[in-house]
Amino acid sequence: MPVLAASVLAADHGRLRADAEAALDAGADWIHLDVMDGQFVPNLTLGPGTAEALAPLCASRDTLLDVHLMTEEPGRFMEPFIEAGADVLTVHAEAAPHLHRVVQSVRNAGVAAGVALNPATPLGALDEVLPLLDLVLVMSVNPGFGGQDFILETPDKLRRLCRRIEEQGASARVEVDGGIGPDNAAEVTRAGAEVLVAGSAVFGGEEGVAANVDALRAATAQQHAA
Ligand code: DX5
Ligand code: ZN
Repeated sequence: MPVLAASVLAADHGRLRADAEAALDAGADWIHLDVMDGQFVPNLTLGPGTAEALAPLCASRDTLLDVHLMTEEPGRFMEPFIEAGADVLTVHAEAAPHLHRVVQSVRNAGVAAGVALNPATPLGALDEVLPLLDLVLVMSVNPGFGGQDFILETPDKLRRLCRRIEEQGASARVEVDGGIGPDNAAEVTRAGAEVLVAGSAVFGGEEGVAANVDALRAATAQQHAA
């Protein structure tokens, strides 16, 4: 079964911790935190204070706080998130001219290091750092907002990425983020995604978080039964 990471961007920000707790109660595995700086992406969201508020919850549930930095100069911002208790820290390849240094610093701090790729960024951007990575995040929307439509070419990119990881003997996990829901969860899992990020599909709609997580789980279980 893939890991389900609940993106609290789509939660009620007046009760973020309670919503995150509800997602974990419902069976989500990780909490995903989207950090946007209004520069790298056209939106402003959460900072290290929010990571600090959610890290104890994740620790008490023995699960991971998965921080997705959509910022310019990730080398400048990684430290406050590490101090705040991030377990996984993912930076965008497009934002980091010194990607190798940033990845090394994250790993040296004992935190899992991830690199994210925008839809237009080719997999080749990863080549020199792939062996160092714990995770590769493939964006299946253009980053900046929740609730966007899944880009249909993503499964092909996931398949090509999995082949590269295998060919290089690397051990990075593959995460997919954006527009994930019951209608495409099986397809991305089949294409090799091991971590599925979902915001709207967990916190949105009328059914409630428990029913939403059940629907996502049922979709991925179908894939495994197939
Ligand atoms: C988009 C963020 C996503 C977002 C996903 O830039 O990186 O993590 O929260 O939201 P949904 O699942 O609603 O597309
Ligand atoms: Zn994200």
